[in-house]
Amino acid sequence: MKGIILAGGAGSRLYPLTLVASKQLQPVYDKPMVYYPLTTLIEGGVREFCLISTPQDLPRFRQLLGDGSQWGLSIEYREQARPEGIAQAFLIAESFIGRDPVTLILGDNIFYGGDGFQKAFAEFNGGATIFGYHVNDPERYGVVEFTPDGRALSIEEKPKQPKTNYAVPGLYLFDNEVVAIAKALKPSARGELEITAVNVEYMQRGKLRVSRLSRGFAWLDAGTSSSLHEASAYVQTIEKRQGIKIGCPEEAAFRAGFLSLEQLAALTARIPNCEYREYLNELVAEARRLPQTA
Ligand code: TTP
Repeated sequence: MKGIILAGGAGSRLYPLTLVASKQLQPVYDKPMVYYPLTTLIEGGVREFCLISTPQDLPRFRQLLGDGSQWGLSIEYREQARPEGIAQAFLIAESFIGRDPVTLILGDNIFYGGDGFQKAFAEFNGGATIFGYHVNDPERYGVVEFTPDGRALSIEEKPKQPKTNYAVPGLYLFDNEVVAIAKALKPSARGELEITAVNVEYMQRGKLRVSRLSRGFAWLDAGTSSSLHEASAYVQTIEKRQGIKIGCPEEAAFRAGFLSLEQLAALTARIPNCEYREYLNELVAEARRLPQTA
């Protein structure tokens, strides 16, 4: 499955932070925000990526992530000239997607915990899979109603009277039909190609699955100054308590088998002296001690 990271947008709610660097390049505790969604997709087994951002920000993403080969990945880059909707990503990345299924993740969505995503990636066999996450304020999101066996019944974008408390997070899995579906979309009243309209089309075809994320799962939003701060505090709390890192692409690539232990060790040796390097050194040492549990 191919992976798209959508990291454009205006980031106006983070002004003035976003005057010179986009939202998805801001730090979330100890690493740039985009590391988190990248890691989530690596954990799902994705190895080929296309990152989409604004013409101003794209060079900085390239500088940060390169061609991905250092992590055993490939990363291509495409511009979105204006933020004309999440579903526009499938048009921009058409040649990257080719004939494959594709997953799209928003560059400011941070997920942690459980194996809900890995299961969904492993079990994906066509159609579309989206997720449902219980939130306090569903009216801010796409809201989904679904049957106990995971069939979507309705899905509405920012409804005034939500039918459920289940919001749809910014991670979607689609078969190759998504390109044709996105091509047929008309801009909504707010002038965007809506991802909800793509999901509704799959629902009408009887091909939209909704996987409910469990209670222990964290979906953090980092779109405002206070939610960005809260996301950092959350990551710091878990990392300090457990001695693990969230959103570490090197570790995820190693565990996914995209990097050998020797490649991880060589990569770590090139990182300047810092906590991040110490963490990876520890990971390498542990894997050498306990090869079967690494
Ligand atoms: P939003 O948070 O809705 O928008 P934004 O990032 O522009 O922020 P603000 O409202 O503060 O101006 O977007 C959600 C994510 O989707 C975010 O990571 C940006 C991305 N996005 C694009 O890359 N292109 C688009 O056309 C849209 C609509 C969103």
